[in-house]
This record gives sequence, C-alpha cells and structure tokens, in this order.
Amino acid sequence: MRGVRNAGLPALHFRSASDGPRAAKHWKRIMDDLDPQSGILPGLKLDGLALRAPRAADAARIADLANDYEIAKMTTNLPFPYRRQDAEAFFARMEAADRAREAVFVIEDRADGPVGMIGFHPNGVLGPEIGYWVGRPFWGRGVATRAASAALAWASQTWRRKVVVSGHFADNPASGRVLEKAGFLYTGEVQPRRSVARGTIAPTRMMVWLA
Ligand SMILES: CC(C)(COP(=O)(O)OP(=O)(O)OC[C@H]1O[C@@H](n2cnc3c(N)ncnc32)[C@H](O)[C@@H]1OP(=O)(O)O)[C@@H](O)C(=O)NCCC(=O)NCCS
Repeated sequence: MRGVRNAGLPALHFRSASDGPRAAKHWKRIMDDLDPQSGILPGLKLDGLALRAPRAADAARIADLANDYEIAKMTTNLPFPYRRQDAEAFFARMEAADRAREAVFVIEDRADGPVGMIGFHPNGVLGPEIGYWVGRPFWGRGVATRAASAALAWASQTWRRKVVVSGHFADNPASGRVLEKAGFLYTGEVQPRRSVARGTIAPTRMMVWLA
C-alpha cells in the first residue's frame, strides 16, 4: 500500500511490499497498528505533515535542503557540503539497517513536499537516539516539534520503546526547545561530541524522554 489517506486527514506513507521482504515486514508492523478509520497511527496529530520512509526519488530534494552549513553544523553526522550522492548513500545504508535498531523518516509537508528528516539511531546506552533536521525555508513553523512528537508516538506505540535519548549542541537552543516541547528533560550530562561539518568537538547537552 502506498499513501494511506482518508477523509482529508494527514497520512503516513508506506512503501509497498515490493520494496523488499525486510521492508515489508517492518512496515507491516506499522500497518497493523493503524487506525482502520483514519489511516493514521492512533494519537498522531501531524497537522499537514506525514512521516514516511525515504524513497530513492527523494535524494535530490533532501540533498538540496541539507546542503546548508547552518543545518550541518548543528548535527553530529551531516557532512558539508552535502551532495545527492550523500543522500543516496544514507538511504542505502538505512535500507540495509536492522530496523529493530534504526528507523528514519522523511518529513513531508502536504503542500511543500519533503521538508526534512527525522530518525532513531542506536545509541548503545538507554535507548535509541532521535535526530532530525528541517530545511531552512521551513524553520519556525513547528515542523520539528510536530515531527518529533509523532515519531515518539510511533516509537512508543509501534516500536515499543520506553526510553529515547537525544542531545543538542550547547549553541543550538532551538533544538533544545523542540526537544522540551516534545517532552524531553535535560539529564544534566554534557558530552563532548564531534560535529563532522564543524570538524571539531562541541559540548552536547543530553536529554531523555520516557514513554
Ligand atoms: C532545530 C530545528 C530542527 C528546529 O526546527 P523548526 O521546525 O524550526 O522547530 P519548531 O518550529 O518546531 O520549534 C522551534 C522552537 O525553537 C525556538 N527557537 C528558535 N530559535 C531559538 C533560539 N535561538 N533560542 C531559543 N529558542 C529558539 C522557537 O521559538 C520555537 O520554540 P517556541 O515554539 O516555544 O517558540 C531546525 O532549526 C534545524 O533543522 N536546525 C539545524 C539542524 C538541527 O539543529 N538539528 C537538531 C540537532 S540536535
């Protein structure tokens, strides 16, 4: 099934079973949890946004948006410059990833198309770590907050995670605000973390979310 959409409600988009047996199994778990009436995960209020699996066709658009130092410098892993091949390689890595440990979504705006990405990656401590970015033209509209809240609802309801961690560079209060609005609390721990784009270590304020 591609593009579950009912009665004007925000949709979650899913890959078809032809995208591969592992992907089909993964997405079936999500489908099993869908509200049969609305076509969305129970409790999700995305207000015009959808979270969906990345597709190869997204690579050019995602690269256009992510190729921005103001974005890359606030993340640990995004290189700068960020090219289409980087997006393609990332999608391929995620396609091959163990979906019990790692999941990523394109954030798609109903009117504007893909506007950013959000995902969960293994952290090795308490639980998966959430990371995200939003393309600069779309900042300040509540996109990250809605996407993070929806992704956390998915993580607890479908992925059955009880704990999610995150962290933001100390010079990125906007991301701290997003995480607070999504229900994260500061742990008080500050970790030195490397930013690939900066090429330096930056103090990172750690946060935790409990389902
Ligand atoms: C951080 C980021 C994801 C925010 O996306 P967004 O869609 O604009 O976020 P939202 O609109 O949902 O919320 C932003 C909040 O930060 C606040 N904010 C913005 N700039 C701020 C600043 N300099 N200091 C404090 N708060 C700030 C906004 O006022 C808003 O809070 P409010 O609703 O209480 O007013 C986006 O700027 C981004 O992609 N940045 C680069 C990548 C990044 O930082 N990723 C996260 C890594 S931890």
